Amino acid sequence: MSEPKNPAVTYSNYLKVDELLSLQQPLSSGPEHDEMLFIVIHQVYELWFKEVLHELDRVRALLEGDELHRAQHTLKRILTILKVMVAQLDILETMTPLEFLTFRERLEAASGFQSDQFRQLEFVLGNKSEQAIARFGENTRAHAALQKRFQEPTIWDAFLRYLSREGYEVAEHHLQRDVTALVEPAADIQQTLIDVYRRDPKNAELCERLVDLDEGMQEWRYRHVKMVERTIGMKHGTGGSSGAGYLRTTLSKPVFPDLWEIRSQL
Ligand code: HEM
Repeated sequence: MSEPKNPAVTYSNYLKVDELLSLQQPLSSGPEHDEMLFIVIHQVYELWFKEVLHELDRVRALLEGDELHRAQHTLKRILTILKVMVAQLDILETMTPLEFLTFRERLEAASGFQSDQFRQLEFVLGNKSEQAIARFGENTRAHAALQKRFQEPTIWDAFLRYLSREGYEVAEHHLQRDVTALVEPAADIQQTLIDVYRRDPKNAELCERLVDLDEGMQEWRYRHVKMVERTIGMKHGTGGSSGAGYLRTTLSKPVFPDLWEIRSQL
């Protein structure tokens, strides 16, 4: 007897549409109308986080392979996604404070604060913390993913190594730094970056795309905190933080501080 043939690929089985559409499961009774939007938008964000992580891994590999043009092309894609991610907050802002209250208590302690993919994003960009890993149970997907990213070089490390191979002065201790530590601003790196900006438009362009990426993340944080303020005011978050007060402490903290620092020196 001949082997049964695989079913033909269709839109639905390729994209797993049935599975996808079964994943939105409101908890409120009714269920409350607005809970669907809340679930869908968070799921969409998780998918974008996944895609951005996928592309950031590529940017790092391309920088490691000295493929500047392709790295910039990929960065452009990431920036375009980030713009969509920021714009999507507008949709959630159509939900009024009272509409949110119709199901908020059903969220219990659940919060975006527990998004491991958001923490992974922070890790790849250089904002790492062991505490963030410890919040996830051992032997979970999230714990393993964060642990792996914790040990990996960040985009900034790949960028400094690339600059060094391009012939720029980057001290050995920066190239060999502990990649699990936070990136601290460094005067010698700033001097190198000033050189890049003054005499190397090709690599200055790459620096600008990294600034775009940094600014894009800050923009998302700002828009998220404004949305939080208009939806829950100064109430505590479901994740247990002080809410907007906590979120404000995460604003204006660049992931590539040297690229911002040099602007007043150029
Ligand atoms: C009504 C809508 C929303 C409200 C009221 C809200 C509220 C909050 C609050 C109060 C926090 C602080 C942690 C806590 O105590 O819970 C937080 C953190 C966070 N939220 Fe939201 N959020 C909303 C929508 C979203 C959406 C759509 C996303 C997309 C994934 C998201 C992602 C995050 C992330 C990643 C954090 C952690 C930020 C950090 O620690 O720097 N939130 N949110």
